[in-house]
Amino acid sequence: MIEVENLCRRYGSATALDGVSFAAQSGEVVGLLGPNGAGKTTTMRILTGFMPPTSGRARIDGHDVVEDSLAARAKVGYLPERTPLYPDMTVEGCVTFWAELRGVKKPRPAAHEALRKVDLFGRRQSLVRSLSKGMRQRLGLAQALVHNPPVVILDEPTIGIDPAQVIEVRQTVKALGKEHTVLFSTHILTEAEQVCDRVVILNLGRVAAEGTPDSLRKTLFSGDRVAVQVQGLSPEAALKALRAATGVAQAEPDGVGFVVRGKTGVDVRPHVAGAVQRAGGLVIELRPIELTLEDIFLNLVGKGGN
Ligand SMILES: Nc1ncnc2c1ncn2[C@@H]1O[C@H](COP(=O)(O)OP(=O)(O)OP(=O)(O)O)[C@@H](O)[C@H]1O
Ligand SMILES: [Mg+2]
Repeated sequence: MIEVENLCRRYGSATALDGVSFAAQSGEVVGLLGPNGAGKTTTMRILTGFMPPTSGRARIDGHDVVEDSLAARAKVGYLPERTPLYPDMTVEGCVTFWAELRGVKKPRPAAHEALRKVDLFGRRQSLVRSLSKGMRQRLGLAQALVHNPPVVILDEPTIGIDPAQVIEVRQTVKALGKEHTVLFSTHILTEAEQVCDRVVILNLGRVAAEGTPDSLRKTLFSGDRVAVQVQGLSPEAALKALRAATGVAQAEPDGVGFVVRGKTGVDVRPHVAGAVQRAGGLVIELRPIELTLEDIFLNLVGKGGN
């Protein structure tokens, strides 16, 4: 498990972490969610022993990351923001090498097991240079898992890979939660919702909110937004119909269509479709808009929390 108590970290006069506390129990997947510069990487680097905190404490499986650093490090696997990989080694060679560095007793079987966990066993003879970005990311994951640590810490594991592979990596991370305590960072709220049991939201080096994705969604969202495109009505007539639809809090033109925000807890899509149809038009697109965490913060801060 992971315990973080009142962690502070300054870089010169800048404060990156300002009293962060949270915990992750064994078998739990916890998402560390926050916009750029929130302090996610700083938190993870402290937890993995790469850097000490300015003050506060952190423990991995009961071992203090500063006072008992070696024991703490043995219990944790880390996928950093950028994993250094050796392009001319085979996948299996690479992971076996890491296993040796980690002092694993039977490096090759351990490498095979890690490769199975991340679904790369079939590619074990391939050269690292021939792997796609998503596969490289999974190879990085294998590296983090090869000594079978109880705690796994992953810094933005899905960044920079294509959508199909993002889904695979998310599934892998979720599956890891069955055997490991997992802390992973992201700035994508929907990703956190899909993968995590619990979410800790960091903003400006502080915990801004914490809870299950469901409870956070209810607290943070002031109503879901949908993108709507209409045919057969003038823009004015379409806007009028949308604004009059049941459950609609707000409707504004946006590009060739409209953005509609529903009142809290209302799925406005059937109401929007019905209202447009009754006005004599046709809805040709009705798409939920996925808010990023940045959007939510902008919404909360910029518009007075409406
Ligand atoms: N080595 C450093 N020296 C000085 N300031 C730093 C250093 N590393 C991070 N910071 C600052 O600390 C703050 C937190 O950075 P951190 O990298 O932890 O954020 P993050 O949440 O991981 O962001 P991102 O989503 O962009 O990866 C930022 O303001 C950043 O500029
Ligand atoms: Mg980061």
